[in-house]
Amino acid sequence: MRIAVVGTGYVGLVTGTCLAESGNQVVCIDKVAAKIELLKSGGIPIYEPGLAELVHRNAKDGRLSFTTDLGAGIAEAEIVFIAVGTPQGDDGGADLSGVYAVAEQIGRHLNGYKIVVVKSTVPVGTNAEVARRIAAVTDCPFDVASNPEFLKEGAAIEDFNKPDRVVVGVRKPEVGERLRELYAPFLRTDRPFLVMTPESAEMTKYVANCMLATKISFINEMANLCERYGADINQVRRGIGHDQRIGFHFLHPGVGYGGSCFPKDIRAVIHMAKAKGVPAAMMEAVDSVNEAQKAVLGGKILSHFGPRLDGKTIAVWGLAFKPRTDDIREAPSLTLIDLLLERGAAVRVHDPEAIPNVRALYGDRLIYCDRPYGALEQADALAIVTEWNEFRNPDFEVMLRLMRQPIIFDGRNLYEPATMKRLGFQYQGIGRAMVDPTPSYRM
Ligand code: UDX
Repeated sequence: MRIAVVGTGYVGLVTGTCLAESGNQVVCIDKVAAKIELLKSGGIPIYEPGLAELVHRNAKDGRLSFTTDLGAGIAEAEIVFIAVGTPQGDDGGADLSGVYAVAEQIGRHLNGYKIVVVKSTVPVGTNAEVARRIAAVTDCPFDVASNPEFLKEGAAIEDFNKPDRVVVGVRKPEVGERLRELYAPFLRTDRPFLVMTPESAEMTKYVANCMLATKISFINEMANLCERYGADINQVRRGIGHDQRIGFHFLHPGVGYGGSCFPKDIRAVIHMAKAKGVPAAMMEAVDSVNEAQKAVLGGKILSHFGPRLDGKTIAVWGLAFKPRTDDIREAPSLTLIDLLLERGAAVRVHDPEAIPNVRALYGDRLIYCDRPYGALEQADALAIVTEWNEFRNPDFEVMLRLMRQPIIFDGRNLYEPATMKRLGFQYQGIGRAMVDPTPSYRM
């Protein structure tokens, strides 16, 4: 099939590239000329494992091309994906100006029947509004489908190639059938292609992210409770996870969720609920628990050292909001760094991928280290914020030699508290009490 994808962010570029890889003819379109030039010259604007090789191969084989010219880009296409960003607006709702601007441009350039597929995460009702706006500027026939993405950054290619399910929202069965053909190469026999109304498809994306974010805020709240009552959340996780109704997935306590999806999508749902006068007490709690969780690691550091950190050097391992990405949007590391700087600490940071993005924000206010051990030199404490694999089995002897004080605040529970104590570290994880506090019944 001939496909056009408007927007070359994470979603657009991964979608376009994977569709080219399965034999389709794909044009990726973006209004930012610098991005298109970069892509044309073999560069990739984001870090995503495996993406560069796929882009290069498909571009070389002539199945994948890039342009800033939307009219020319969609002229031959039978299916046009809209994959532009929907950032959080000032009122907490999703900012749809990009989606609508693209919809109107597509409408003005329609030269025959096309299926327009909204892939951006958008509030319920956007599909209908996109259709209205296209109809207002063209006489050509078209259909608008909704096709939310469930890609995880860092595993986006894998997720696209082996989706748990594909969801499409359509008003006509034949549009669903055409999209089923497009996705057929990616669907294993046990993975469903779910056809529903556009409204349900739009809602599915938000409900999935609300559930996932709820799991994280839930386990973080329970972890904080464990810590205060002398329990270990890792033992508790095993205790609950074997219950098949609960399971183990997405219940890792940590420093709170970040990234481009959860924070903004949860707030968009709260905004959608408010607009209809429906309570969103759960999602408001999920959001506020998460904001508080982003401050937990900093709180532990201040409890240990006192309110001022002048003269102290704190090392930070991990800046990206999660491993295998360079993305620092809403990253918990930023909350921690702001606090450390405000309290007067010198901050030495290391991340395998995200340093350029962090440098763009903080300039020379931080000390950037290419290697994890470099960040530890003369450090009074190490804070671990992102669970990159290279932090899982470090040389603890080297760490003890490099650090001024062997103190670790581990926001991702990478190590065993008892082992760390034996090695000579003062170690605090999340929700992992080491000593029994005075039981409350004796008070
Ligand atoms: C998420 C959804 O998983 C994806 O389906 C959707 O399309 C976009 O949003 P992504 O933002 O790439 O994907 O990251 P994800 O791996 O889901 O992690 C989100 C955040 O939750 C990270 O900050 C991560 O550290 C945190 N997290 C995740 C936890 O703190 N604990 C967990 O158990 C899982």
